[in-house]
Parts: sequence; C-alpha cells; structure tokens
Amino acid sequence: MMRLALPKGRNLGVTLSALRAAGIGLAGLEENGRRLRGSFEVDALEVLLLKDWDVPLYVEYGVADFGVVGSDVLAERDGDVLVPARLSEGGCRLSLIGPEGSLPAAGSQVRLATKYPGLARRLVASRSWGAEIVKLSGSVELGPLLQLSDVALDIVQTGTTLRENQLVELEVVEDVYPCLIVNRASYQRYRSRINELVRRLEEQELVLL
Ligand code: PRP
Repeated sequence: MMRLALPKGRNLGVTLSALRAAGIGLAGLEENGRRLRGSFEVDALEVLLLKDWDVPLYVEYGVADFGVVGSDVLAERDGDVLVPARLSEGGCRLSLIGPEGSLPAAGSQVRLATKYPGLARRLVASRSWGAEIVKLSGSVELGPLLQLSDVALDIVQTGTTLRENQLVELEVVEDVYPCLIVNRASYQRYRSRINELVRRLEEQELVLL
C-alpha cells in the first residue's frame, strides 16, 4: 500500500481539499483529528499525519512514498526528494518582519529571530549584515515585539498576526507554496499513480506551472 505523509500544520486543509478535488477523499482523517495514521482502502493509501518539519524526512527515508509540505520547510531542510508539483492554493510568503521602518541598512549589525536559521544565514550573507541569528520554535513575532531581536524572518499569510502585534512586513524574501514531494525509489515504483495524481491536480488548476 502506498504511504502518504501529510503535514498537521497550516497546509493540511488545503492539501485535503486538493486531494479531494483530484479524486482522493480522506474524509476519515478530518473526522478523527487525533489519529496519526489512517488507512484508506478505496484509494489503497495509508496516511501519516506528521509535524510539517518531519514530512521531508519520512519521504526521503522512504517510510512514506510521497507527501505534501511547504517549500519553506523543504528549503530549510535540504532533503533529497523529488518535487513533481507545487500547489496553487495555500501560498504564503517568507518575509522579514519587524516594527515599521526597522529594515536594517546594508552593513549594519542585526539580531534576527527565526524558525529558519539556514535560510536566515543565506539571507544575511547576501545583505552584508553582521548578524546574530536567534533560533526560535514558534511565536517568532515576539522576537521583535519584545526586543529579543531587531527583526524576524517568518511566514506571513493573511497578515493578521502582524496586525495584531503592531508589526509590519518589511520585505518579502520569497514566495512559499505547498509542494508535492516524492521519494526517488517510490517514484520508480508508483510512477503512473503519481503522474495520474499530478495530472488530475493540473486538470483542476491546482498546480502552479
Ligand atoms: C505562521 C507564522 C505566523 C502566522 C502568520 O505560523 O509564524 O505566526 O503563521 O499567518 P497570518 O499572516 O495568516 O497571520 P504557523 O501557522 O506556520 O505556525 P507555527 O508558528 O506554529 O509554526
């Protein structure tokens, strides 16, 4: 049975609706919110519900054959997986955020809070900032809000979190999309099923070209 790794975080809803539109209904998953593993005989699929950050690892190691995860997580983890499609729904941005007017000038000393230390290191190198990177696990907005850091590198989707904390999006660093990822060996084995899934997602205009 093919095994699918799904992220429990922000991309779960959008992934389930994309799969549903492509003919893979996983209704049982939504109803049993606490279950971590479910079999869906109709589609000969077993589904694992994982923390977003663990999805690439399960797929790279072949414990799951394919999965969905944000391009932000994928870029930070640098795993060896195939990415046959990016979803057109559920997009957001990886941005520098902070108080109004706090975008550091080139050459300045910056303390930056983030869940993405790897991406942050690349960013500060490209800006010639002398930077100290503070790795946080969540609630990253509190960094600049409480002066733990000058700015933060974090996800912005609707902008609600920023507005509620009197912060602004200083600069968009990159666009982020949920990505379909596939284990290399599993792609050889299940090529026609994966290609059929991508084809159906394309048909529903759920894939970015
Ligand atoms: C992200 C980010 C913000 C929020 C932004 O967190 O860290 O807190 O979403 O979304 P908004 O612009 O729609 O308000 P995420 O949902 O990835 O959860 P996490 O902080 O628990 O990782």
